[in-house]
Amino acid sequence: MRDSPEIAIFIARMPGIDAWGHLTALLSEEEQVRLERLISERSKAHFVFGRHLLRIALSRHFRTPTEQWEFKIDKLGKPRVLSPQSLNGVRFSLSHTEGLVGCAISPDYEVGLDVENLRHLPDAEALAQIIMSTEELAAATRPVSSRTLLRLWTAKESYVKALGTGFLVEPSEVSFEYHNDNPSLLRRVSCDTARSWRFESHYPASGYVATLAHSGPDHVGISTAWVDLIDAENHNPG
Ligand SMILES: CC(C)(COP(=O)(O)OP(=O)(O)OC[C@H]1O[C@@H](n2cnc3c(N)ncnc32)[C@H](O)[C@@H]1OP(=O)(O)O)[C@@H](O)C(=O)NCCC(=O)NCCS
Repeated sequence: MRDSPEIAIFIARMPGIDAWGHLTALLSEEEQVRLERLISERSKAHFVFGRHLLRIALSRHFRTPTEQWEFKIDKLGKPRVLSPQSLNGVRFSLSHTEGLVGCAISPDYEVGLDVENLRHLPDAEALAQIIMSTEELAAATRPVSSRTLLRLWTAKESYVKALGTGFLVEPSEVSFEYHNDNPSLLRRVSCDTARSWRFESHYPASGYVATLAHSGPDHVGISTAWVDLIDAENHNPG
């Protein structure tokens, strides 16, 4: 039995959107260029805190200094590990939402994580018609609640992030059903035939919902840990 979990989730509260400036020195040149292209302060903060959490999480899990991690973006947009080269098979998935940032990492399995803040969606029923599949709409209690829709949204995003396609696929093409609060795939995208996927709902903090998608077996070891993004100690691998 191995001593570290096969999938590790790290969650952090997002510090204020004006608190990211001193962290830009930790970004690679390519990330600095991406940062400059982002327009809003919010997008910049989400990007910087996301990369910061990712480096801390990877460094803790693989006991590697934070400055050694570099990433590349594959042809469908999914970020992957470029360096250290010995760890470039490591899988991870990153998600940011108002107030919270999360990532899932795994040495063994493909992962997709999506986190959303639970909020009132004034147009929930109209959104449901766009993002829900015919099977999901038929099974849903109407009108569809914001909570139901946001939880389902995280399932769909976790899947397309695990696949690496992002929403090049229509959300309504994918179908989920829920058993004991966990989603399972009822209809997958046509290009995905080989792997079996498992999904878990998570509630990392009050007012938030997340879904983890992974290609591991049932009962895979999954840990969740909180990270303090402004605590300098976290910069060092544990
Ligand atoms: C990938 C996508 C699902 C991410 O969702 P989101 O709600 O923007 O934001 P999240 O914070 O949850 O996730 C963003 C992270 O997903 C990751 N990501 C981006 N593209 C990805 C892909 N193809 N596969 C897996 N992960 C991806 C990145 O790490 C990104 O964070 P970063 O840019 O700071 O590195 C979505 O942006 C997408 O599908 N984009 C491509 C198509 C598109 O723009 N469609 C428009 C409307 S649906």
